[in-house]
Amino acid sequence: NTVFRGRHFINLEDFTKEEIDTMLDVSLDLKRKFAMGEDTDYLHNKTGFLMFFEQSTRTRNSMEAGMAQLGGHAGFLDSSSMQIAHGETAKDTAIILSRFGHMIACRYCNWGRGNQYLTEMAKWSSVPVMNLQDDLYHPFQGLADLLTIKEKHQDLRRKKISIIWAYAESHKKPISVPVTQVLLFPRYGMDVWLAYPKGWELPEWVITQARENAEKHGGTLTITHDEAEAYKDADIVIPKSWGNWVTDQTGASVSGATAVIDDALVSNKSWKCTEAKMATASKDVMYMHALPADRNNEVEDSVIDGPHSIAYDAAENRLHTAKAVMTLLVGGK
Ligand code: CP
Repeated sequence: NTVFRGRHFINLEDFTKEEIDTMLDVSLDLKRKFAMGEDTDYLHNKTGFLMFFEQSTRTRNSMEAGMAQLGGHAGFLDSSSMQIAHGETAKDTAIILSRFGHMIACRYCNWGRGNQYLTEMAKWSSVPVMNLQDDLYHPFQGLADLLTIKEKHQDLRRKKISIIWAYAESHKKPISVPVTQVLLFPRYGMDVWLAYPKGWELPEWVITQARENAEKHGGTLTITHDEAEAYKDADIVIPKSWGNWVTDQTGASVSGATAVIDDALVSNKSWKCTEAKMATASKDVMYMHALPADRNNEVEDSVIDGPHSIAYDAAENRLHTAKAVMTLLVGGK
């Protein structure tokens, strides 16, 4: 445990593959104990702060429930009701909260600011700072995705996983989910496909890093603008967009960004996951989605509710992976 204790959890790239494997092992152990009703009092008397600049269903509640099940206490902090609203800095907020408790977790997805804010908090906090999603990374989601896929496939090498989406940096669209996935899956020897309409690229540094990860670990990365190529014989598909999700610090929609996204939905309407497209994939293909899903624009009900969907399994695993990370980073004797 000493390898993990006290570290920040901002980005899975900060952890070796062996360390990520340990997180997955601990997640499965905690999942089994949860099913058996066994005590998991690893964070007895510990306090964690959960600070949100934006809305959340899975992330907030997996962390809150997880902390309670680990015997600790989670304090939910809405940034708009904190002194941040009056300009208090990340530095001062981190110093104070870290004197009150044992971990600080934060979601701040604002484009160009979120990751900087988290990094600044981590610089000044004396306790672990955890990223509940920023503008670049969503490590808890990535870990839960990986656990869910590994529950279905023991060996991920040569599995074709297609990340299909319609939004990009150039449109100030949150890219934390595809960035996390495209960096992570090649590390497990997977054949990763990125499919998106032209003009909706991820930043070049992400592609460069993903290719390095693939080379090092025996995976591959293929980019296509042809959706059909991405679905063909795929073992896992992740068709994802975030709809009208961009908000500012107060939780209100960012008007300029919303307008761009609305246009994008219209022009890329065909990029919807359908049963017909799924039929071209492997016969055991799995449909995965970080959720929330936009059932009107992103996916047909018969796919997300159908036998190939592991979207809810991945959401369930958010609890167990959250507990594993908190236990490893905050717990221990
Ligand atoms: N996938 C995810 O992070 O969900 P929430 O936005 O509900 O936390």
